[in-house]
Amino acid sequence: MTSPVGIDALGTYIPEYALDLADLASVRGVPVAKINVGLGAFEMAVAPPWEDTVSMGANAALRLIEAGVVDPDEIGLLLVGTETGVDHAKPVAIFLHELLGLRSGCRVVELKHACYAGTAGMMLATSWIRSGAARGRKALIVASDIARYDLESSAEFTQGAGAVAMVISERPRLLTLAPESGVFAGNVWDFWRPLERREALVDGKFSVDCYLDALEGALADWRANGGSEDDLLESMAALCFHTPFPKMAVKAHARLVEHEYTRLGHDMEALQAAVAASLERHTEPTLAAARRIGNTYTASVYLCLGWLAEHAAADLAGETIGLFSYGSGCCAEFFTGTFGSESAVMARQVGLAQQLEDRERLTVEEYEAFARAKTIDPPMDVAGIHLAAIEDNKRIYVRPEHRRLAAAGR
Ligand code: CAA
Repeated sequence: MTSPVGIDALGTYIPEYALDLADLASVRGVPVAKINVGLGAFEMAVAPPWEDTVSMGANAALRLIEAGVVDPDEIGLLLVGTETGVDHAKPVAIFLHELLGLRSGCRVVELKHACYAGTAGMMLATSWIRSGAARGRKALIVASDIARYDLESSAEFTQGAGAVAMVISERPRLLTLAPESGVFAGNVWDFWRPLERREALVDGKFSVDCYLDALEGALADWRANGGSEDDLLESMAALCFHTPFPKMAVKAHARLVEHEYTRLGHDMEALQAAVAASLERHTEPTLAAARRIGNTYTASVYLCLGWLAEHAAADLAGETIGLFSYGSGCCAEFFTGTFGSESAVMARQVGLAQQLEDRERLTVEEYEAFARAKTIDPPMDVAGIHLAAIEDNKRIYVRPEHRRLAAAGR
């Protein structure tokens, strides 16, 4: 019997600036109800010019190191999933390796497949541990992204920014991952970003269809790979979906219930009532942070998990949840995890509720100025790791002194 493998700790980072989407709707001449009701979104996190995928990912991971839940010397594999990297050759992961003070005997790679790459990293890490190659070492998986679309495009309301860092280990204290998972892949042009562009291109309505088809495919593959034949609505205590905008998770939830009703031959006349009831129980409790952060691409499904853990881990000890990760282009995966007896203690490291509380609200003019900025200009008092300058095409990051001292003392 092999040891359980999964997420030992999860830390988050979101930028300290937020835009109220009602303000943006008013300036763009869009009905607020379309955003709040139609998309289910209320605010979005805005990254200032001195924050990027590197700084956000490093700050999320530093939370866990400073809390003492992982020792940098234990980490033998660092994988960063992102679709908004900072260099075509140099991986985000190597900047994190230095900023976090990891050992040189550590494999360090950036992974890309749109919003799926964080999950890809997590699955590779679980295989590395299960194979025995880890020899007791842990993996650090970071998912970090800034979702950017053109100003004044319809997708502008589905932007956001944030990062999640997860320690993957044997005998995990937060969420044990089941070995069965289901994947679905196929080449589609639903969302992409040519190398010279900073803002993504998207075929919005098609992307929603691709997401839902991928969910069906991943569920079928999960069952083919040994996933439980039980009714998911009865066997799962919650469902975390990749959430580019909250209504997408609601649509995904409805598709999953329909999938189960069809598979199990349930009375289809009861479908709508079952969707509504199970939405409240399984998916709504995961969405509150996404409603105020927006899309975080690779980090999105794990921010939903983080929020759920922070608010309900004590009640979920021993319960199994389902997770669905979707990356445009596309590759998707459905898998499950079970909360353990120490989950509530580990969930204290997530930090999402406090960060949402501490944010500063931007005006639409300030948000547009950040979006158009050509220089970095960090204020003197930035508390976290941040981008300080770009010199000779080299990015220079700063880990403020009090944090450096904290690391030196470990
Ligand atoms: N009051 C209430 N609701 C209203 C309304 C009003 N006044 N006006 C419109 N609505 C509703 C619509 O009925 C619609 O709801 P349903 O989908 O349930 O029918 C919803 O608001 C959105 O309306 P539209 O479809 O007309 O909106 P849009 O043309 O602005 O497009 C979008 C929405 C496609 C999501 C667009 O924002 C977009 O392209 N976003 C980026 C792409 C994306 O996030 N795709 C998700 C799947 S791909 C993925 O997951 C990967 C990834 O992270 C990008």
